[in-house]
Amino acid sequence: MKRPDLFPLGWPRGILLYGPPGCGKTLLAAAAAAEIDGYFINVDAASMMSKWLGEAEKNISKLFAMARKLNESEGVPVLLFIDEIDSLLGTRNSEVGGEVRVKNQFLTEMDGINGKSKESQLYVIGATNKPWSLEAGFLRRFQKRIYVTLPDNASRDNLFNQYTRPLNTEGNLKIEELAKITEGYSASDIKDICQSVQLRVVNELFESGKAMDSSANPRAIGTSDFKEILKIRKPSVSVDMIRAYMRWSDQFKAL
Ligand SMILES: Nc1ncnc2c1ncn2[C@@H]1O[C@H](COP(=O)(O)OP(=O)(O)OP(=O)(O)O)[C@@H](O)[C@H]1O
Ligand SMILES: [Mg+2]
Repeated sequence: MKRPDLFPLGWPRGILLYGPPGCGKTLLAAAAAAEIDGYFINVDAASMMSKWLGEAEKNISKLFAMARKLNESEGVPVLLFIDEIDSLLGTRNSEVGGEVRVKNQFLTEMDGINGKSKESQLYVIGATNKPWSLEAGFLRRFQKRIYVTLPDNASRDNLFNQYTRPLNTEGNLKIEELAKITEGYSASDIKDICQSVQLRVVNELFESGKAMDSSANPRAIGTSDFKEILKIRKPSVSVDMIRAYMRWSDQFKAL
């Protein structure tokens, strides 16, 4: 954006984040919002799908008009984040022909952005966990398609570090081991697990009858508490689903 002269052919304006639930697509967009020196518009596609005749297309065109106006009048980048973008093609809109019109409206708006002059700094980030429900016309307008994967070992290590920090743990909590045995769990699963472990020790305190004594605290959390929870808490994303994402990535990923 600082050196448009280096990009005589322009650059991509549409970015698609896809991947299994709970791995940070929405969170990534929020992080981008915090860093961008400009405007961030956050909409949920499902909420734009009105059941009233013609309303959904109007919502889409109003949204893009607002983004364009902001960009033109203020001269700063505008990032339009559309979460759960697959619902633009969804079945919620029961009106006959309605879905096709919504979709076409969206495609037209995207063409408007992609064909804009270099001065335009309007970007669209779409997020979905059902990339296979997007058709070719949609995909073509998101030139960057980024797979937000399940966390790898190092990321799980970070997640456990982050989410156990506020907890009262024994000094020797084996984070490395926890990261190793949670392959296949999503970031959101790991957060849930840490929360469950805390609930477990708080429950114990209640059961002991001492919880009403404000100076009584739950015992420290150990590695074995996590292992107990893991016995009953399985990954929320199945292996089959991951295979489906990988298959889709092989075909459609674009970096
Ligand atoms: N990279 C991460 N670091 C820390 N926490 C994370 C991360 N990714 C996800 N989480 C936790 O999981 C929650 C859900 O993540 P988020 O809503 O970003 O997932 P998503 O990929 O958008 O899922 P969905 O496809 O269901 O919308 C977050 O609020 C956060 O608590
Ligand atoms: Mg999300």
